[in-house]
Formats: sequence, structure tokens, C-alpha cells
Amino acid sequence: RTVYVNGDYLPENEAKISIFDRGFLMADGVYEVTSVLDGKLIDFDGHAARLERSLGELEMASPVTRDALLAIHRELVARNGIDQGMIYLQITRGAPADRDFAFPDPEETPSSIVLFTQNKPNIADNPAAKKGIKIITIDDARWGRRDIKTVQLLYPSMGKMMAKKAGVDDAWLVQDGFVTEGTSNNAYIVKGGKIITRERSHDILHGITRAAVLRFAAEAQMQVEERNFTVTEAQEADEAFITSASTFVMPVVEIDGAELGGGKPGPVAVRLREIYLEESR
Ligand code: PDD
Repeated sequence: RTVYVNGDYLPENEAKISIFDRGFLMADGVYEVTSVLDGKLIDFDGHAARLERSLGELEMASPVTRDALLAIHRELVARNGIDQGMIYLQITRGAPADRDFAFPDPEETPSSIVLFTQNKPNIADNPAAKKGIKIITIDDARWGRRDIKTVQLLYPSMGKMMAKKAGVDDAWLVQDGFVTEGTSNNAYIVKGGKIITRERSHDILHGITRAAVLRFAAEAQMQVEERNFTVTEAQEADEAFITSASTFVMPVVEIDGAELGGGKPGPVAVRLREIYLEESR
């Protein structure tokens, strides 16, 4: 695999980052995941805009322009022959000579940038989308700025492990009795034909897939309500689903052991997945 590191395209085993990199020492960095369908980047502009916002919130400068970033994405897709898959991008605050909590001077310590591809032949034809996934709910113990896409992914990793140990696929996070989002996706329920999802704030990541799906839903005359919902309301809903760049629209068929829609993917989730794939291709 060819990867990109600070200006160079290199075989992955030759790519190196300093042990002083603040991404490594302090999770001081941001990332994006962009999917590739039929060799095409999905929603690149949305991901680039969110990246710029994340960097701005952390007073970090981008080491490359948006145009250069697009060129790097395309070059990696071509060099690695990615037809179906994803591109991971990470920018960290670089590697100052000494460990210090305060941000280093950006003039002396430029940020680091890394990109790599992952081949995922089943990204569109995911068998899980036909069955739907099962989830548990867990306490949302993350920090308070989940709208910034940082690389502090330890709690989401722990959440996936809690789900795995419980014999299910994923977890939804709960704060003050209300669902915020999934460990690495946005969360939705459907009741009486209405799509309900938490509104955007510092509490959730503003999903690029979320924005696209809500736009497609409105175009298809589906009703959308952006508001908080509880776990009980979710368990009593007609259907549920999640969205992300790596799962697109994925039906949820069980929440904390309570089956939804007879344990089968619901019609709204199935239809939205179809529309999403059609419109993105
Ligand atoms: N995760 N919420 C969280 C906490 C996420 O980590 C993600 C994405 C989303 C969905 O955002 P988008 O639609 O822009 O992918 C929501 C990526 C896919 C990941 O960490 O792999």
C-alpha cells in the first residue's frame, strides 16, 4: 500500500512519524474518513469543510490547501487501485522537541499530515445492511466537544468492546437520559413515518452522511424532526438506523435486547440506504 506522509508518497513500511508527535503523545489531532464508491470520492467537500472547522476550533493550521488535499486523495485512490473503500486522513499538531501541554509555536512546529487508503470491497453491498445490526446503550463518557473530529477515540473503542462483550454490533451513547449518537455514527429512530435525530450541537459530531441523508429525506417528502430522544422512545420506535461514511445508512433492529420492527430492517432505513447509494454513485 502507498501512503502519504508530510509531502511524500511512500510504501507503508517506510512511512514514519516522530515519537514526539502530539497526536501520539496527547491525541492532539483531527481526522476524517471519506468513502470511495466505484473509484469516486463521496462528499469530499463536506469532509474538507468539517476538517477546516475542526482545525480552526483547535487553533491548528492545515499544512495543505483544500485543492492539494483533493489531489492527494485522488492520487492515493489511483496508486492503490481503490474501487470500493475509504481514505483516512489525520492532521496532528506536529512534533515539538519537548513534551509540553501548551501548544508549540506553529512556525517552529509544523503540523503533521498522514493519509492512507483501506480497501473495502463490500462497502456498498454490506451483508449487515440486509440483516440490520443490534446495539446496546452505554453512558456517554466522552469530552464535551464531540463536534470536533479529534483522534481521542479511546472511549468509542471501549464502547465497541462493551458491545462485542455483550454479543452485539455497536453501542449508542446516552447523556442525561437522551441518546447522543453511536460510537462512530449518528443515531436515528423512526416513529409514524417521521425520522427523529438529535439536533447538532457540541454533543455530537455533525455527520457528513447525516447532512446528505436529511437532505435526501426532505427531497423524498419524508418528515424529519431534529430533537433529543430517550432510550425508551427508541425501543418503542417503529425502526432505527445509524449513518456514517463507512456504513452509509445501516438499519438497527435491536436496542438493549428490545427488538424493533420484528427484528427486520425497517422500510424507511432500507429506502434511505437505496437513495443514498443511488445519489452518491
Ligand atoms: N466516524 N459520530 C461519530 C462519533 C463518528 O465518529 C462519526 C464518523 C459519525 C458520522 O460522521 P460521517 O457521516 O461524517 O462519517 C458520527 C468515522 C466513520 C470513523 O471514525 O471511522
